[in-house]
Amino acid sequence: MTGPADGTPRVAVLGGGVMGEALLSSLLTAGWATDRVEVTEHASARAEELADRYGVRTGSSNAQAAERADVVLVAVKPNVVGAVLDEVAPVLRAGTLVVSVAAGLPLAFYEGRLPDGTPVVRVMPNTPAVVGKGASAIAAGRHADDDHLALVERVLAATGLVVRVAEKDLDAVTAISGSGPAYAFYLIDAMAEAGVLLGLTRDLASRLAVATVEGAAALAAQSGEHPVVLRERVSSPGGTTVAAVAELDAHAVRAGVVAAARAAAERSRQLGAQHGG
Ligand SMILES: NC(=O)c1ccc[n+]([C@@H]2O[C@H](COP(=O)([O-])OP(=O)(O)OC[C@H]3O[C@@H](n4cnc5c(N)ncnc54)[C@H](OP(=O)(O)O)[C@@H]3O)[C@@H](O)[C@H]2O)c1
Repeated sequence: MTGPADGTPRVAVLGGGVMGEALLSSLLTAGWATDRVEVTEHASARAEELADRYGVRTGSSNAQAAERADVVLVAVKPNVVGAVLDEVAPVLRAGTLVVSVAAGLPLAFYEGRLPDGTPVVRVMPNTPAVVGKGASAIAAGRHADDDHLALVERVLAATGLVVRVAEKDLDAVTAISGSGPAYAFYLIDAMAEAGVLLGLTRDLASRLAVATVEGAAALAAQSGEHPVVLRERVSSPGGTTVAAVAELDAHAVRAGVVAAARAAAERSRQLGAQHGG
């Protein structure tokens, strides 16, 4: 990947919604100067808001932003991506890297619409990226090499964990980290509801549930120990935790999580197939 001689690659973020803003914030945290990043939005109020908050150039023309860019980050909804690619394809300079966070659209979808030889990288992010605690997987297209992937890792560095995978694994990634925050929210909500059932106020039960899930995740990440070891450590013989976990098993919660992830992966495959994946 050859960037401009005078510094960091110039990046255009197309779509300044939830993910677009997370990417913009990550770029600035990673050291991009505000004059090396621009954002497009078709709603002018949102464009103004982003310009005020981050001090970057904003505009409504995807083609003008893409023409100036070394890296084009596509962050619009999947149903708009085709139209946005049609706008930018005629103006892309040779070697411009196209990176997309749109869920479900295969690399072939981009490669079929962009000039031959355009390097494309697909990203499957998740919502905790907006607080720097995301988990993203990146997959390279036919013309993207290690340098392109390394650049995408730099772009995403401040959003959290970034791993490289082959595109065929993105359905599984979608099922685990892409949809996974919803499984964790489901658990948090169930724990909070149980707390209310047991007589705690909703506010107290919610705060305890959130802090407990956050703390357990931090402990698992920092200790590097197997979750079973961590679970056994808080399960004294004949105690409260082992009684609770026996009920989780009796209600097939583990099997439910596996079935949920399989359903998400299958749905991801179906959506990809609709777009030529
Ligand atoms: N949020 C997530 O957790 C998540 C996770 C994984 C992947 N993704 C992917 O990230 C992408 C963006 O999702 P999001 O949640 O950030 O959606 P979003 O908040 O709706 O952001 C999309 C933004 O793009 C704007 N936009 C629409 N058409 C445009 C155009 N032609 N040119 C420029 N901007 C345009 C939208 O403006 P209007 O609202 O005015 O239309 C909106 O501000 C999606 O493809 C999604 O699959 C999101």
